[in-house]
Order: sequence, then structure tokens, then C-alpha cells
Amino acid sequence: MKVYVSRKIPQIGITTLLDKGYEVDVNEKEGPLPKEEFIAALSAKPYDAVISLLTDKVGAEAFDAAPNAKIFANYAVGFDNVDIAEAKKRGVVISNTPDVLTHAVAEHAFALILSLACRIVEGDKYLRTGKYQGWGPLLLLGTEIRGKVLGILGAGRIGQEVAHQAVRGFNMQVIYYDVKRNEPFEKEYGARFCETPEGVLKEADFVSVHTPLLPSTMHLINAERLRMMKKTAYIINTSRGPVIDEAALVEALRDGVIAGAGLDVFENEPKLADGLAELTNVVITPHTASATIEARDKMAEMAATNIIEVLEGRPAPNAIEAR
Ligand code: GLV
Ligand code: GLV
Repeated sequence: MKVYVSRKIPQIGITTLLDKGYEVDVNEKEGPLPKEEFIAALSAKPYDAVISLLTDKVGAEAFDAAPNAKIFANYAVGFDNVDIAEAKKRGVVISNTPDVLTHAVAEHAFALILSLACRIVEGDKYLRTGKYQGWGPLLLLGTEIRGKVLGILGAGRIGQEVAHQAVRGFNMQVIYYDVKRNEPFEKEYGARFCETPEGVLKEADFVSVHTPLLPSTMHLINAERLRMMKKTAYIINTSRGPVIDEAALVEALRDGVIAGAGLDVFENEPKLADGLAELTNVVITPHTASATIEARDKMAEMAATNIIEVLEGRPAPNAIEAR
């Protein structure tokens, strides 16, 4: 069996496949593979399976280029880079890597919340640029999060874990919006369901976005909805960039419509919206929310396992169904 891996992933994933006696070709180049190179690489050999990344466009062209591939194991929990309907039509299995990165991403979302509240990045920069003249009663005043309202948009695995940290760790109050109400979650964390995203935006001190990217969530956060937020509120996004209209967000941050933002994902990665990087009230990280050794190792193992299961004629444990 031949497997193509479009970028170096933790070795455990490769070893798991090699141990099965599979031939594994890993793209050793740095950086995301340009689309043409990805397609060319797929057609270089009759691959039986592929590990793709969220930076790869997996659709008709990719399936045409790898007509023998029974499975594309996407090395991510999000799969907006994959044309699921097209895969289904062709009988190609698509799998993702849920659960194993939930804690990593939730902790990263919280790191962004705390960085904003405690003004960590501003303070760091202040010191490094030689501005610090000594202790000051009014220097870089932040905000406490205890008792504040955390608004979760999308209470899936990651959103629920962020709520857990907020309530158990910091005594925050949680409100949430999701397409599905979740009563056990409400009971567990005293979380209050809002009938609309607007309900969350109007009330929350911190809004954390955990929706998948879908046609219905594209620009869910736009100029109009940003104006519904409190002037003192912060928005955090560790889901997918296009869920927020990034140009509108830059304007809102510049005009003081909201207090700040913590972003791990961007609308046109790796580019940032004009003006974003110049703002002092944003903390930005390069799509590294799941980048812990623990999560990335488990993601690699999971992708390999899904491939082995399918190539041995069993269902993929993390197969994605067409929505
Ligand atoms: C990362 O963004 C993922 O979807 O796993
Ligand atoms: C993704 O894993 C989610 O459900 O939030």
C-alpha cells in the first residue's frame, strides 16, 4: 500500500504506517504545498491513501489526481478544506482528528483570554522596547475575569472545554449559542442558552468563537454584530478565520467599538488584514492552537489509524459524514 503525506507530521504517524509495511512518501518541503504541487504529487504514484492538511484543497481535482485513494485522512479537526459531498459521490472516505486536540485548543483560547485581560503581550513589548521606568500604580491596567461573562459561540467539544476552564478555574459565568441546545452542558456549568448569537454578543465580556466554518458561519461576526458587543468586551477566535469579517474587526478595534481581540486564525492565512498587526489591543498567534506535542502526536496517530482501518477493509473510526 502506498500513502502520500503532504507535509511532515510527527513521526509517530509515519512510523505507524511504516510498521504496517506501507510505502510512505512525505513531502519534505517547508511551508504549505501550493495547489499545483499538491495535485502533481498526488498523481506521481497510484496512492491508496493520503494524509492531507487544512492548507490543502481536497476536492474533485485531488480525487482525480489520486483515483486509487480510498481515504484522505485530514490532519485537523476542521475540514472546511475538503469537498465532503464530492468525496461521498466518489466513495472516498474523509476522516478528521477530533477530541485529541480539544484540550490544546481550549487551553490556547484561554491563553488568549488571559493575555488580553492581563495585557501580557503589551507588557512584554513595553519591557523589550526599553519603556519601563519602574513600578506604576496605573501602568498597563488590565481586567479580572472572575465573575465576568464568557460567551461561547458554538458549544461543541472545544467550546464546552473552554466553558469548563472558565467556570471551574475562574468562576466565570457562561452563556452560549449553538444550533443545538445542550441541557446537560447547561446543568454541568450553569451555562445559559441564548436563542441567537446576538444574545451572546450583547451580554458577554469575552466572546470565544468555536463554530466550524460553514456557509452559515461565514462572517458570522460582521460589523453590525461587532457593534452589538460591549465596548469593554473582547473577542477570541480559535476556529476558522472567515467566521469573522477581519476588515470589519480591524475597524472595530481601531474605533474602540470593542476592547480587544485574541486571534489564532485569519481570514486569508497566512496574510493578516490591513492594519491588524499595528493594533496594540490584539494578541495574535499563527494558527497554533492545537500545536502541543501531545495533540499533534495523537493527531498523527489518529490519521494513520484511520488509513489503516480503511485499507484493511474496516470503517474509518473518524469518518466524516456529508452534512
Ligand atoms: C486546526 O485548525 C484544526 O482544525 O485541527
Ligand atoms: C471540535 O472539535 C469541536 O467540536 O469544537
